[in-house]
Formats: sequence, C-alpha cells, structure tokens
Amino acid sequence: MSKIKILFVCLGNICRSPMAEGTFRHLVEEQGLDHLVEIDSAGTGAWHVGNPPDHRATATALPRGIDLSTQRARKVCHEDFEHYDHILAMDHENHANLMHMSPAEHRHKIRLFLSLASEEHEREVPDPYYGGEQGFEHALDLVQTASRGLLREIMD
Ligand code: 4NP
Repeated sequence: MSKIKILFVCLGNICRSPMAEGTFRHLVEEQGLDHLVEIDSAGTGAWHVGNPPDHRATATALPRGIDLSTQRARKVCHEDFEHYDHILAMDHENHANLMHMSPAEHRHKIRLFLSLASEEHEREVPDPYYGGEQGFEHALDLVQTASRGLLREIMD
C-alpha cells in the first residue's frame, strides 16, 4: 500500500509548518500509524533554507512531547505538487502563493490547514514570528486541533 503523503506549508518553514510537521508525526506515531504516512514541511519563502526551527517553536513544542530539533527548513519546489496528496497551508497568503505556483491539475490538493479543525472558528494559523511566546502557544493549540482533524479524515 502506498503511503499518504502530506506537506505542511507556511512562509519561512521555521515556525508554523515545522510545528505542524512535528505535531502530526507525533500523533501518527502515538497511534502506531507512522508506516502509513509520509510527512514533510516547507516554506513559500527561501530566507531560512537549511536552518533549524525557530527556538521559540522548539521550546513550545517540547513540553508537549513534540521534538522539532532534527528538522531543517526548505522551500516548496515544483515536484512537491506532484508528489504530495495533501498540501496544507497555514494562512491565506500561503494558500494563494501555493495555488499560483501549482500546476492546475494539482490545485485540488491545496487547502487551508484549519479547514480540518471544524471546531475552530479561526481559518488561519497566525504568524507568530514577530510576536511573543504566547503566539507560539496559540499557533500550536490550533495546529494540534487541526492535526486531529487531519488524522480523522485520512483514516476514514
Ligand atoms: P513561519 O514564520 O512562516 O511560521 O515559519 C515566519 C518565519 C520567518 C519570517 C516570517 C514568518 N521571516 O520574515 O523571516
């Protein structure tokens, strides 16, 4: 059986999408389902390529049992649209950029990540980069809710 391939995307790939990658990986490992999914994250921007996640993202995730330390930032590339089954954007700007970059036949794979969090009113994971620690806690709360929704959807 071929794996379900999931790509999380934000702007810099050092805050929100690494938290989403780490959270979703942690969740599928907890459920013993990690052999069924391939998970990665990327940014629409290239400023931080090769860098580890922002230390505030790492510090927010660790007490929740989520280790981001081995991740390195990369930019979304053309092959991603062919390779991945689900491409999940953190905010409307990421979504619009992905839709612009994607060949038409793969655009149906691109969605807002929070569309999977039916119990949430917010549609975007706000960019915490220029704010304080609280922004990271809030972003991770949203990411954890949407991750549970994503798992429910793909295991249905
Ligand atoms: P992210 O946050 O998109 O959640 O990784 C950001 C990281 C870096 C920048 C912006 C957002 N930046 O402008 O460098």
